Amino acid sequence: MVSVDVPVALLGYGTVGAAVHRLLEESADEIERATGHRLRVTRALVQDTSKDRGFSPTPGVLTDDIGDILGDPSIQVVAEVMCGVDPAGGYVLELLRSGRPVVTANKQLVARRGTELFEAAAAGGVQLRFEASVCAAIPVIKVLRESLVVTNVHRVLGIVNGTTNFILSAMEDGRSYADALAEAQRLGFAEADPTEDVGGLDAAAKTAILATVAFGSRVPLDWVEVEGIEGVTLDHVVAARALDMHVKLIGRATLVGDRVDVRVGPAFVDGHHPLAAVEGAFNAVMLHGDAIREITLEGPGAGGIETASAVVADMVSVVGTTGTGFLQNDPVWRTLERLPPGELASPFYLRLEVEDRAGVLARIAQELASEGVSVAQLVQQQAEGRAVLHVVTHEAPSGRVDAALAAIRALPEARGESTAMPVISGRGVAGLGWA
Ligand code: HSE
Repeated sequence: MVSVDVPVALLGYGTVGAAVHRLLEESADEIERATGHRLRVTRALVQDTSKDRGFSPTPGVLTDDIGDILGDPSIQVVAEVMCGVDPAGGYVLELLRSGRPVVTANKQLVARRGTELFEAAAAGGVQLRFEASVCAAIPVIKVLRESLVVTNVHRVLGIVNGTTNFILSAMEDGRSYADALAEAQRLGFAEADPTEDVGGLDAAAKTAILATVAFGSRVPLDWVEVEGIEGVTLDHVVAARALDMHVKLIGRATLVGDRVDVRVGPAFVDGHHPLAAVEGAFNAVMLHGDAIREITLEGPGAGGIETASAVVADMVSVVGTTGTGFLQNDPVWRTLERLPPGELASPFYLRLEVEDRAGVLARIAQELASEGVSVAQLVQQQAEGRAVLHVVTHEAPSGRVDAALAAIRALPEARGESTAMPVISGRGVAGLGWA
């Protein structure tokens, strides 16, 4: 096979960009064996060409002028590894429209502007790939689009943010929230603005992309119900352990008939569930489908070299498949409606703090019953003159649970903060119990 030299460009040369360049150079022989091509970085867009870099590019490669890339017809693939939607979005649109394939690691860009991007790719007749935008090294987009192409995937459950999983795991070991967040930042997997991690926005973008690809219908970011981990306390973590469960930030996309529900929030995950064992900064995505029952993909979901491995694989896929048409299109092929947010049903864990006197439990039971929420398990503890009730419900729509919780919070006997989180368990609530 005659080796073909393929000039490629990078938009961004931070941790991920430098790692992409290094991986392309170190894996050049493997890539050539697989595709017959040698991918050579000829241009990399940066803000400051004089700054010190982790991996030194050849002199002349770095540029601060996007025109050097847009105006160079020899460049055959561009990897976008910048942060933020602007100006990255404008550059990517222009590249696609002018017939340059793009690979992106930018989840906010794909989640917010997917429609425009795929229209531009179609107009330019080129590919847009985005594996690295969801869970870094875990090849979930390719699995959904290629391996599961004939499977009706109807549910996606994931731990898709490493920072929050790291913090929640550390809290189980008795470490404080602030201390664990600082370490996640030091280790380099938190976003530049860590409120995107702890507030759930990073996970929301990834879950919206997963839902779009899994269900073949565009899921806009503002359809995602988002709650971060700021409200999770040590009390929740301890109560979960007593129930043989773990508090995790879970992204959930569910197809209910021909409507879609997508949400991100803290949940009580049964210790026997595959997601319970995912610790530290690792990510996992669980796919439920008609023919496959369930498949769980687990691995490093953040980090420079881990993200770079997905970027390089996409670049190799573009080079290896250009002209053949496979996976070139927008993954969207139908238009599903959004399930009204309160309709998705699951079991819930409720932590209720109330005055400890006769009749209070009956009032709570009444509020739950009037919303049709049935109690599966209940334990009461004493805490500083109050009663803390730990309740696990049978499956109930989230809107009914929220309404019952609001009514319980408004009772004159309510004390402290009462909270609810969905329970994720493969064996139902009957198998759960207090340890
Ligand atoms: N900040 C993200 C995380 C990594 O903690 O998972 C990039 O998506």
